[in-house]
Amino acid sequence: MEKDSPIGIFDSGVGGTSIWKEVHHLLPLEHTIYLADSANAPYGEKPREEILRLSIKNTEKLLEMGVKIIVVACNTATTNAIKTLRSSYDIPLIGIEPAIKPAALHTQTKCIGILATKGTLSSDLFAKTSDLYSKNTRVIEVVGTGLVQEIEKGQKDSPFLKAMLIELLKPMIEAGIDYLVLGCSHYPYLIPTLKEILPQHVQILDSGMAVARQTKLVLQSMDLLTEQQQKPPEFFSNGNPEILRNLISKPSENFSVSYLDF
Ligand code: DGL
Repeated sequence: MEKDSPIGIFDSGVGGTSIWKEVHHLLPLEHTIYLADSANAPYGEKPREEILRLSIKNTEKLLEMGVKIIVVACNTATTNAIKTLRSSYDIPLIGIEPAIKPAALHTQTKCIGILATKGTLSSDLFAKTSDLYSKNTRVIEVVGTGLVQEIEKGQKDSPFLKAMLIELLKPMIEAGIDYLVLGCSHYPYLIPTLKEILPQHVQILDSGMAVARQTKLVLQSMDLLTEQQQKPPEFFSNGNPEILRNLISKPSENFSVSYLDF
């Protein structure tokens, strides 16, 4: 592992680019490599063993590419696989989990909502975190059925998606939540639509910035932060690279997006 080696990031698909954006923003000198396992998305409905198998496959691909750290930019993969990955590989692994803690600490209504995949909400790791922080708070958990599939098609604000979100958020709004925690890295792309639906006082929390800060801290502690500008970001998808390109495209940004069979 060397300072100038890349940071590897993977997700079940295009959603983890919401995390990549934060990592790249905080660590602009670093070379980042992003793997979108879109051919196997969504992970959220798959059995734990399958999520684990896919997470191992992605990890090994990134190791082959010579990364110095891996960001698991997927709540479903983190909550179901990170423990096994950490015990199997000698590389720092950063995971992402729903931001229940800040929501539970700051809620005034004592009622918060969590929107996540079935795989995340049914995991042991999520249950532990949720138990820890939700003693005096009602937590309304909703599975975002169908949302990842739409985002994987490149949809962010279609009328169909909005209608789905109205239905999914109904129980949370009725219960009086004042925080909505996004427990899936695909969902930050829905924030503009979510804001149209939620009452104005409801705050939306995602974990992107926390993951970026943690990545920096770990690299710093291992003296692995690069000191000079590295190569532009590289994105690989085993699905449709155009959808990935559209999500991340910024006219001034230099990056490459390619198809890769992995
Ligand atoms: N982006 C993912 C997450 O954070 C996975 C969604 C899925 O593939 O179901 O959970």
